[in-house]
Amino acid sequence: MKALEGVRILDFTHVQSGPTCTQLLAWFGADVIKVERPGVGDATRKQLVDKPGADSLYFTMLNHNKRSIELNSKNETGKEVLTRLIQECDVLVENFAPGALDRMGFGWERIQEINPRMIMASVKGFGPGKYEDCKVYENVAQCAGGAASTTGFLDGPPVVTGAQIGDSGTGLHLALGIVTALFQREKTGRGQRVLAPMQDGVINLCRVKLRDQQRLDAGPLTEYSQYSEGIPFGDATPRAGNDSGGGQPGRILKCKGWETDPNAYTYFITQAAVWEKICDVIGKPDWKTDPDYATPPARLPRLNEVFDAIEEWTKTKTKFEVMDICNPLDIPVGPILSMKEIAEDQGLRATGTVVEVDHPERGPYLSVGCPVKMSDSPVDVVRSPLLGEHTMEILSEVLGFEGQDLNRIVESGAVGEVRAEAAE
Ligand code: COA
Repeated sequence: MKALEGVRILDFTHVQSGPTCTQLLAWFGADVIKVERPGVGDATRKQLVDKPGADSLYFTMLNHNKRSIELNSKNETGKEVLTRLIQECDVLVENFAPGALDRMGFGWERIQEINPRMIMASVKGFGPGKYEDCKVYENVAQCAGGAASTTGFLDGPPVVTGAQIGDSGTGLHLALGIVTALFQREKTGRGQRVLAPMQDGVINLCRVKLRDQQRLDAGPLTEYSQYSEGIPFGDATPRAGNDSGGGQPGRILKCKGWETDPNAYTYFITQAAVWEKICDVIGKPDWKTDPDYATPPARLPRLNEVFDAIEEWTKTKTKFEVMDICNPLDIPVGPILSMKEIAEDQGLRATGTVVEVDHPERGPYLSVGCPVKMSDSPVDVVRSPLLGEHTMEILSEVLGFEGQDLNRIVESGAVGEVRAEAAE
């Protein structure tokens, strides 16, 4: 038994934001039926191709545990099939460009007419307002959500982050909205619209930066390195380099091997509660009682000097030795792990966070498994579907089409040529 068993999702998503949402729901046990354009499918199937002829990693890593039906939702027979799918499913998830569903003839009013219990969940770039009609991709959301203006170094341009906070982050927000709407439907019997705009999702993840924007009114942000360097603050939250986002100063410091290994670094936080232990570890026991270093406020104007001293010590250790020494002392540190190290980490394999999946076209590949672990709802990661792999199964088993009806649908071309051949 899985948590969302019995919930059927009509997955009209593509690229990254929507697929991350429906993949999570599939891992939690929902039956996710991915609707794809005949012969084409989700554009990511053929993007960043590393093995000619095989679905790309971009697609496979975002579409596990789903079934795929090819369906032209703009042709009359296709619309008939889509109407039946809306009747049979609990949730429709989509991340088309604004207005695309209305243009197909399946706007919210129509969907409610077909199935009043339907939850219609959408990712859009922006919420209602002047940008609501824009198409949006990851980095646009990172920029418009305030993340880029606060990422990077003070003397450089805005920077986007590798974590896909606009796409995967919004997919997470949407998944929470869907599950919450399902919970409310238990009581009301009604579906509802769920909207997760990417800009809003990024702003939510940048909450602490809006906090700092308002703190600026009360004076300089003393925990920012910029303060200890005597650089005046402007009128907006500045880029903070690798400063820690909380009240405890932190930086990324070089470790043994940094000259040749681009990831031989550690994050190091000078947590006030363990300051004395830090002084002992780095060989500065006198700083424990020296009034210039003994308290957090005294250290603030000297952060560069403090971190330089810590770095002199971290440079004598590997990032893992730093972890081994500091962890037992409760000094918060973290190695900068490369993707290569993550791929090879046996601990992450053991928890199912990194999984090896087999695929008929491309053979075995690594993916990220479900990052949420539930004691009563285990996750088995199943390879992504081939384009239209389940078309016939969905038409007959889920929608109950058979005989002449089934032939009529297949022959109309609404469900793709490949499936038509299979039917013959
Ligand atoms: N059958 C027939 N037509 C289909 C179809 C199907 N099964 N599936 C999609 N289409 C059509 C759509 O109806 C649309 O047609 P229209 O433009 O005539 O209305 C068309 O395919 C293209 O869809 P669209 O969403 O506009 O794709 P795009 O490639 O032009 O834009 C995005 C891609 C991601 C920019 C856009 O979808 C978007 O802004 N989405 C919302 C924000 C988002 O999720 N962005 C992040 C993506 S990771």
